[in-house]
Order: sequence, then C-alpha cells, then structure tokens
Amino acid sequence: MTTIGTPLSPRATKVMLLGSGELGREVLIALQRLGVETIAVDRYENAPGHQVAHHARTIAMSDPDQLRALIEAERPDLVVPEIEAIATPVLEALEAEGVTTVIPTARATRLTMDREGIRRLAAETLGVPTSPYRFCDSLAELQATIDDEIGYPCVVKPVMSSSGKGQSKINGPDEVAAAWEYAMAGGRVSHTRIIVEGFVDFDYEITLLTVRARGADGEIATQFCEPIGHRQVGGDYVESWQPHPMPATALERAQEIAGAVTGNLGGQGIFGVELFVKGDQVWFSEVSPRPHDTGMVTMVTQWQNEFELHARAILGLPVDTTLRAPGASAVIYGGVDATGVVFDGVDAALQVPHTDIRLFGKPESFVKRRMGVALAFDDDVQTARRNAAEAASRVKPRAV
Ligand SMILES: Nc1ncnc2c1ncn2[C@@H]1O[C@H](COP(=O)(O)OP(=O)(O)OP(=O)(O)O)[C@@H](O)[C@H]1O
Ligand SMILES: [Mg+2]
Repeated sequence: MTTIGTPLSPRATKVMLLGSGELGREVLIALQRLGVETIAVDRYENAPGHQVAHHARTIAMSDPDQLRALIEAERPDLVVPEIEAIATPVLEALEAEGVTTVIPTARATRLTMDREGIRRLAAETLGVPTSPYRFCDSLAELQATIDDEIGYPCVVKPVMSSSGKGQSKINGPDEVAAAWEYAMAGGRVSHTRIIVEGFVDFDYEITLLTVRARGADGEIATQFCEPIGHRQVGGDYVESWQPHPMPATALERAQEIAGAVTGNLGGQGIFGVELFVKGDQVWFSEVSPRPHDTGMVTMVTQWQNEFELHARAILGLPVDTTLRAPGASAVIYGGVDATGVVFDGVDAALQVPHTDIRLFGKPESFVKRRMGVALAFDDDVQTARRNAAEAASRVKPRAV
C-alpha cells in the first residue's frame, strides 16, 4: 500500500531530485500534484526545478562528501537522479546502509553513467544486439582497433559524456587523431577512456519509454509507451514525435530488448531506451534510468506524460501509458549567450494550431542551450511536426 503524507509535516513523503533541469522540473511538478514534499538539487542557483520545489539546494553532486551530507541532513524517502554526473558510489553506500531508496536503483545509476558499464551489461551479460564496439585508452590503441576490428565509418565517444559531447564520426584514417582529441576535450571527467563503435546504418532511431511500476497484484510489471521518433544533430535532439510507425516484428524486438535491459537494472520508474532500427532489425544503443529528453513530446501526446509516469511509478502507484493523440516536440534554443534573456513571439507561437510551449526559466542562455520546447498534437505526426517546428521558430530569445 502507498501512503502519502502531508508536505511540510512530520509525516511528509519526501523526494529529492538530483538534477533540476527541465526534465527534473516536470518530475517535481508531477510530485507536487500528488502531495509530495520536494527537494530540488542542482549545481547552480535558480535552476528550473529549484523554482517549483518546496526546497532548493545547490551543491556539487559529483562531490561525494557534499552529496552524502545533504542526503543525511534531508533524509528523503526517495532520491531520484535526474542527471548522470553524480557521485554514484555514495548512492550505493547510502542505499546499502538503508538511509534512503535510490530510483530506480543505485546500481542502475552507476552502470548507466558510464558507457562501458551499460554496454557490457547489455551486450555481454544480456546478449542484446548492439553496434560492434571496443574500449580504448590511447590514440595508438584506437587506430589499431579500427584497423583490426571495427573499420570505417565508426563513432568515437568518451565513456563519461552525454548530449553528444566529445562524440564524432570517423569516415577515414585522416580523421582518427582529431576524433581522439575531441573526445579527450569533451569527457565529463578527466578520463582517457573512449568507446569506438561501428557505425550502424539504421533507417531510424527511437526512444522506447519503458515503465516499471507496481500493478494491482503488488508485483512490478513492465509497460511500454508508443515508440518516439527523433532527429539528432551533433548528438543533441532537435525534434521528436510519437508514435513512430514500426513493423510488428521490429516493435516486438524493441520491447524484448527494452524489457531485458530494464528488467536487469530493476527498481521502479521510467527508462528511456534508445534503439536503432533497420527493417526488422533492432540494436540497443543506450538507456537513461529516468525520463528522456525526446520524451518531452509526451506532455502533449499521452494521458500521463513521462514525468507523471515516473512520479507515479516511484511512489508505487499504477500507471497508464496510453497515447492520447499523435504529436511532436521541437527544441527552442537560446540563440544568444546572455543572462536574463527575454522571449519575444510567444503569442505568435501559440497561434499555431494545437500547440503549447514550455519555457524552462534557465537563468543563463547559451547559443546552443535548450531554453524551451514547443509541443503540438494533431491527427497525424507530419502535421504535428510541422506545427511544433513552426511554433519553436516563432519564439525568439533576446539579450537585454
Ligand atoms: N554506433 C552508431 N551508429 C550510428 N549512429 C550513432 C551511433 N552511436 C551514436 N549514434 C548517433 O549519435 C546519437 C547520440 O549518440 P549517444 O546516444 O550514444 O550519445 P549521447 O551523448 O548519450 O547522446 P544523448 O545524451 O543525446 O542521448 C545517437 O542518437 C545516434 O543518432
Ligand atoms: Mg543518447
């Protein structure tokens, strides 16, 4: 049985978000609506989630001492990591000591923050199809591995990185050194390890949102949202849509793979499983044990969006992954480097039929920083995509 207390009372149900960007903010809003007391944590002040939580805390989440001290002081019932750059060994220790529960599990947060952990689990332990891959620690080793095993084209990524940082495609021998240098500069921590993957010539890629939630019988069951299609530019998503049509066999394989990977990671909550598809063939790419950026489209397409699904699942509540309408999302970038920007054209954007927008409230804008998202639903995905992109283009951030 799930019991929820009154916020700001001794019996409050307390949930701490580690990372309070646009995704964390929506999870916080969903939790607020269920009467949960929320603690938003980020590395800088006035982060999007800070602005909607009961409590806002600013620490370096990658610092084990700061992270432990904060969790021990706040004593949340649940700790919900929303970013990868966290001192995960502390989470494993606190979970083992019974101090708190980590969503979905501390082990899942450790394995997925590192491309090596999740890739070896998926490919070597679970036998799930992936691109061919090797890990390398020097330029010489990378060159030898490409020559002997992986071939061209291939993709190089730091093992600790996200949003395409430090990632590049290598088309031939003259590009290897530059890719190595780029990976060294783009990793999250000073780390010389990279993964080199054979390039998968996929027809399309999807995010399969997969939810592990408690059913009426008390057992954890796995449910899937409709596949989300998306377009990546430089390793960062620029638009997504749902549903993405798939042949029955490919969808079945995608669900099998997502079920196997999330089943092994365990716990409760939503996972964003990234998959490549060509005909009936499906490859596992990676997984986020949390809401996925491409899944922001569900704010306009599902009865329960990915953030509400996560909030419900982690509290032990039932979930419903039913699609409400086809739809799309399009990212609104900062376009300028400035603090305290203003957004012109929000009215014009919302004049596009069946659209909505989210402005994340980030204190500082960068040219390529995601500052908001436009959403659209319609009878078909094509119309929704066109309208979401049109609405996003009408919002114009401006330095003041
Ligand atoms: N082996 C590959 N073959 C073909 N395309 C690839 C391969 N690996 C990555 N990509 C492309 O690059 C994108 C980003 O790769 P990946 O998801 O591994 O990096 P990331 O930094 O974690 O990105 P994000 O944080 O945005 O998910 C993929 O969505 C895909 O479009
Ligand atoms: Mg990815």
